[in-house]
Amino acid sequence: MDLDYVPLGRTGLRVSELAFGTWRFGRETPEGTTEIGQGRAYDLLDAYEAHGGRFIDTADVYGGGKSERWIGNWLDERDREDFVIASKVYWPTRDDDPNGGGLNRKHLRRQIDRILERLDTDYVDVLYTHRFDDDTPVEEFVRTLNEFVEAGKVNYLGTSTHVPNAWKVAKANEIARRKGYEPFKLAQPRYNLIDRETEGPYLDMCREYDVGTVPWSPLAQGFLTGKYERDADLPEDSTASEGDRWQDHYLTAENFDVLDVVREVAGEVGATPAQVAIAYLSHHDAVTAPIIGARTTEQLEENIGAAAVSLSDDQFRRLSAAKGGPFDEV
Ligand SMILES: NC(=O)c1ccc[n+]([C@@H]2O[C@H](COP(=O)([O-])OP(=O)(O)OC[C@H]3O[C@@H](n4cnc5c(N)ncnc54)[C@H](OP(=O)(O)O)[C@@H]3O)[C@@H](O)[C@H]2O)c1
Repeated sequence: MDLDYVPLGRTGLRVSELAFGTWRFGRETPEGTTEIGQGRAYDLLDAYEAHGGRFIDTADVYGGGKSERWIGNWLDERDREDFVIASKVYWPTRDDDPNGGGLNRKHLRRQIDRILERLDTDYVDVLYTHRFDDDTPVEEFVRTLNEFVEAGKVNYLGTSTHVPNAWKVAKANEIARRKGYEPFKLAQPRYNLIDRETEGPYLDMCREYDVGTVPWSPLAQGFLTGKYERDADLPEDSTASEGDRWQDHYLTAENFDVLDVVREVAGEVGATPAQVAIAYLSHHDAVTAPIIGARTTEQLEENIGAAAVSLSDDQFRRLSAAKGGPFDEV
């Protein structure tokens, strides 16, 4: 199964239809173990590449910088030009430094150079603001981000922001338009068959402003794989579900009803629930490329298989309607 290329939103760039997310690279658990160590990170990147995957998602804070550094090392033996690399900036990276986080100019300028140094590259294809910063004037960060594009350090700008902030993205893009700056051309929200808050005004904003959508957590952090059962113990090999907050949010009667519909469609198309959940996003008119996560190469292989799944309009609508609420077109 080889991944195809799709246009990245309304940019001229083409990217793999499924991006690969590296959030867990080098991430320390509260027990002090590393979720995905360096060796497994390379195995995962190798497996993604072997299927034609060329769109890698990271952030300056993932694994305290290890995710970017390992990707940079892995790229050493490859042609960097073959890959589209996206990183993010916002979260604090210096303890006790009031300017060591957010989107203020000092932090942005410091971080872009650190990102490029760790990735061992002259430019990132996409730089996202990881969250919105209400303490920095929009003009300040829009202009600073534009400088990065002008300097060739960044090709496209994106924003990974929470849904109630849709109007702030619109405001930033209006300021960019008036000043002739580069606007946000991508949005990275949480979006999956369980978490549907993106539907409605946020996706409307993305369509109106030609902002491509690259959703994270397409599997609701594993819930949509079907490995969690009603009234059963949690599977032992799962790390995503640690903590009561995850369980209270996902392991609900309503969500298990959604999963029943996903399983039903999976049976009809001869795919797994995970593949159907990812395929749902790929079939969505407002989605550019979901970011798949995986802790093992087996999970990654399964998730990449989603690219071969074809859903009928009726199956898409049944999946869309499973949680009720707003209904998006195929
Ligand atoms: N912008 C942001 O704020 C933001 C936030 C979160 C993520 N992201 C990006 O989006 C990427 C993906 O997010 P995510 O990790 O939450 O995605 P996800 O696909 O919803 O969840 C991935 C997790 O689900 C489990 N899983 C995945 N495939 C599976 C399979 N086939 N069978 C069984 N279990 C499977 C694994 O955890 P277990 O095996 O431990 O259960 C895996 O780590 C991240 O790596 C990151 O790049 C961005």
